[in-house]
Amino acid sequence: MDTITDLGRYSRAIQCLAIAPARYVPDLVEDARAGLLERPRSLPPKYFYDARGADLFNRICETPEYYPTRTEDALLQEHSDDIIAMTRPGYLIELGSGSSKKTANLFDACEKQDLSCVYAPFDICKPVLIEAADKLQDTYKWLDVRPLLGDYHAGLGNMPHYRGCKTFLFLGGTIGNFTPPEARSFICDIRNCMDPGDFLLLGADRIKDPAVLNAAYNDAQGITALFNLNVLRVLNRELDADFSTDSFVHSAVYNNELNRIEMYLISRCSQEITLGKLGMSIRVESGEKILTELSYKFYFDELETLLEECGLKVVRHFEPDNRYFSLVLAQRE
Ligand code: SAH
Ligand code: AVI
Repeated sequence: MDTITDLGRYSRAIQCLAIAPARYVPDLVEDARAGLLERPRSLPPKYFYDARGADLFNRICETPEYYPTRTEDALLQEHSDDIIAMTRPGYLIELGSGSSKKTANLFDACEKQDLSCVYAPFDICKPVLIEAADKLQDTYKWLDVRPLLGDYHAGLGNMPHYRGCKTFLFLGGTIGNFTPPEARSFICDIRNCMDPGDFLLLGADRIKDPAVLNAAYNDAQGITALFNLNVLRVLNRELDADFSTDSFVHSAVYNNELNRIEMYLISRCSQEITLGKLGMSIRVESGEKILTELSYKFYFDELETLLEECGLKVVRHFEPDNRYFSLVLAQRE
C-alpha cells in the first residue's frame, strides 16, 4: 500500500499512516525547557515510550504486582462477546494501543459473531505499533489493520474520517496519566471524533488499598525502576544530554489525598547535567526530584461523571469482584 492523502502517507515499508498534529504540540526540546529548567522539575510521560521503554512497559505488565493489565484482560475475556454484540463496530480505533494484546479478546468476539472490521491502532511508538500490527494481521487474516502513528493529543483532529460504526478504545488505565482537566479535555476530543451512535470503551484503574497500589509501581524485580530511568536514556539520545542513570533513583508513592501514584526520579547527589540541544546545563541538587508520571485512580461514579460531562452516555460499566479496575462502555447519543 502506498497511499498519499492530505492527512499523511502510508509508507510501503512500514504501512502505517503518519498522523500530523492538528494543533500545536511542543517537541522534546520545548518540553525539556518547560519541565527541566523550572522547579519542581517534570517531564511528560509520553517520552517513556521509545522501543526499550515500550518493551519495559510490557515486562511491567507481567510482574506479579502490576495487576491492571491482567485484570483488564480478564474483564475483556469475560465481556467482549457482549461488547461486540452491543457495538457491532465497523471500525475499532485504539488510542495508545501498545502491544494490542488485550484487544485480541475483541477480535475473537468479532470472529465468533462473524463480523469483520477495520482495526486502527494509534500510537506514538513506531516499532511497537508495527510489531503489533504485523502480529495481528497474521493471526486475524480477515481483520483490516490500519496503524496510525503519532501523538494522539494533537492528532485526533487529523485522523481519517471513518464512515461507519466506530468504537474507540482507550484501555490500560492510560486516562490516569492525564491530569483531571487534561482527561476531561481528551475525552471531549474523542467525543468530537464520534458520530451519534458511536462508542467509547474506557479502561481505568480504581482507588484501592494503597499497599496494593504502591506494590504495583515498585515491583520487586525493579522493572518499573528501569522503565522510569529509561526516560533519562531518551533524553541523552534525543537532547544530547549526559544524565547518568546511576545517579538517580526510582520513586513511586501513592498520594492518598489526590488519589494518584506520583512517580519521580530522585537525584542521588548534587550534579551538573548538560542539555546539549538546549545549549546549557542545569544543577540538580541531592534529593531533588523530577516528576515523570502521574497515575490517577478513580471512583466508580467519578468515571461515569467524566464520560457524561463530555456528552457520552454510559451504557455498561464492568468491574471485577475485587473492584480493582473499570471498563466503561459509553455511547454518543
Ligand atoms: N493500551 C496498552 C498500552 C498502555 S502503555 C495497554 O493497555 O497495555 C501507553 C501507550 O500509549 C504506549 O504504547 C505509548 O506508546 C502510548 N502513548 C503514550 N503517549 C502517547 C501519545 N501522546 N500519543 C500516542 N500514543 C501515546
Ligand atoms: C500506561 N499507564 C497506564 C501505566 C500506569 O500504570 O500508569 C504506566 C506505568 N507506569 C508505571 N507502571 C506502569
